[in-house]
Amino acid sequence: MFTSIFREGNHPDDYSRLTYKKLLEEVCKFANVLKSKGIKKGDRVAVYMPMILEGVVTLLACARIGAVHSLVFAGFSSDSFSERIMDCQARVLVTADGVWRGEKHLALKSICDQAMDKCAKNGHNVEHCIVVSHLGRVTSPTGVQQNQSNKIPMREGRDCWWQDLIAEASSSCYPEWMQAEDPLFMLYTSGSTGKPKGVLHTTGGYMIYAATTFKYVFDYKPSDVYWCTADIGWITGHTYIVYGPLANAATSVLFEGIPFYPDNDRFWSVVQKYKVTQFYTAPTAIRALMKFQDDFVLRHNLSSLRVLGSVGEPINPEAWLWYYKLVGKERCSIVDTFWQTETGGHVLTPLPGATPMKPGSAAFPFFGVQPVLLDESGREIEGEGEGYLVFKRPWPGIMRTLFNNHDRYETTYFSKFPGYYCTGDGARRDGDGYLWVTGRVDDMLNVSGHLMSTAEVESVLTEHNAIAEAAVVAKPHPVKGECLYCFVTTIDHAVFDEKLLTELKKLVRERIGPFAQPDVIQNAPALPKTRSGKIMRRILRKIAVNDRNVGDVSTLADSTVVEQLFATRPANA
Ligand SMILES: *[C@@H]1O[C@H](CO)[C@@H](O)[C@H](O)[C@H]1NC(C)=O
Ligand SMILES: *[C@@H]1O[C@H](CO)[C@@H](O)[C@H](O)[C@H]1NC(C)=O
Ligand SMILES: *[C@@H]1O[C@H](CO)[C@@H](O)[C@H](O)[C@H]1NC(C)=O
Repeated sequence: MFTSIFREGNHPDDYSRLTYKKLLEEVCKFANVLKSKGIKKGDRVAVYMPMILEGVVTLLACARIGAVHSLVFAGFSSDSFSERIMDCQARVLVTADGVWRGEKHLALKSICDQAMDKCAKNGHNVEHCIVVSHLGRVTSPTGVQQNQSNKIPMREGRDCWWQDLIAEASSSCYPEWMQAEDPLFMLYTSGSTGKPKGVLHTTGGYMIYAATTFKYVFDYKPSDVYWCTADIGWITGHTYIVYGPLANAATSVLFEGIPFYPDNDRFWSVVQKYKVTQFYTAPTAIRALMKFQDDFVLRHNLSSLRVLGSVGEPINPEAWLWYYKLVGKERCSIVDTFWQTETGGHVLTPLPGATPMKPGSAAFPFFGVQPVLLDESGREIEGEGEGYLVFKRPWPGIMRTLFNNHDRYETTYFSKFPGYYCTGDGARRDGDGYLWVTGRVDDMLNVSGHLMSTAEVESVLTEHNAIAEAAVVAKPHPVKGECLYCFVTTIDHAVFDEKLLTELKKLVRERIGPFAQPDVIQNAPALPKTRSGKIMRRILRKIAVNDRNVGDVSTLADSTVVEQLFATRPANA
């Protein structure tokens, strides 16, 4: 069988297969289109794409001609997008008319129009906007299939349909030769303060790191079918949907939909459909799926699975065990990968079949990576202990700079502990040398001088049978300095009552210590999450102190959650 990408649309009836040969042709055609728009080596191209083949083609076409792609997750607001377009000074933008995610329609072109207007007001002109005509070729959730492209306003001279440009483009394009240290792409991460940071990765180091981690961490073999459920808008999509699998000539699945459409078993039905061997997803997705009856998993044949991956945050042991037992039938390896946009690829991870697993531990460093734990004064902690997670030596995939801001690169990552790359995360090393990432250092709680991570408390709360998901934030307290404010989502049919509250408090006291007893536990039927499933703690901290100044909520999957949580703050909060 030819190596290929299996495209699985939002609707299960909508799928296709693209061979590598055809992919190369498409990439060459679009590379020629970009050239015809004046793009050359080193130019930035802004991309705002859903999970469609043209997204992958766009990134590879940029790489082929040495242009630097700057893909912004197609869930960011027009404000955020315009800020990023201006920061990287992109003159060409690539997008689609729109996309269905489950039963929700996202009007991507209209968001791009607003973003381009904002750029123009600030003196930056996007000269070309290339739009994939997508809605007209997919099955909409309402079953009506129609080409609505004529309803999309196209600005004369600036906007063009992808399909029209491709139709005229040549399918051969000689690649631009690049130096190892030439930029390959940039990807913005939000800074905790100030402007977003344009993390820059280079051609040689990043690619070798993407290829090598993919091969070893997923134990990829030529007959395998690999599936990563992330969005290409994040680094996981860049490294483990695009560059890593392609550099290994892997056959993979590209999924446009969501886990809950048309029903809550979509992931498992896709695994069965393509006989997926490696499945890579996020703990937040696992926790969301755990809420439903086991039968959603059990009704599918998942015997093809060999390696299960987890990415995005440390996976709590409850979710790990569910994943291991129900999905993996206790015969698949789980690779709990720790890494960041900045690290390019996995830096801490078990290796399947080789590392004895501990639920919730990212285990050991990948080849060549040297993690160190530092205490507050910058001394290295030997043996068991907890501290700041830093890296002592660079590895091929480490980011090289922040676009146009090398000073900020140095201060953000190298100034707190000179001589080390600072992840901003804390970690614990146990007696066997396993590393347990405990979460962002700024997600630490200091209750009467006792330091603990919010992740630690969340993990304990979710041990309770009635709790599906928990998020904990620090709230200022006049006596203790800080206290714990917990948001908990119960599983379907569980009752949130005094009995449950008492049990949860007791559980935390027992597992962590009396000082960790939560002051407030709020019933949260839903948590404020981004479309990629990240919990927005910034907003939870505001809810904890009843401050309605929550700021930008445009990246939330469902912003009504915020009002709901404000309205239902408990009496003692
Ligand atoms: C939809 O119609 C437009 C013209 O209105 C055309 O350019 C485009 O290719 C069509 N899209 C599809 C997917 O057929
Ligand atoms: C499950 O799928 C595998 C292939 O992935 C196949 O070999 C096996 O026969 C299937 N089992 C059942 C019970 O259908
Ligand atoms: C924790 O808070 C106490 C005051 O409650 C303070 O003295 C101590 O320095 C804080 N510890 C850290 C590591 O911030």
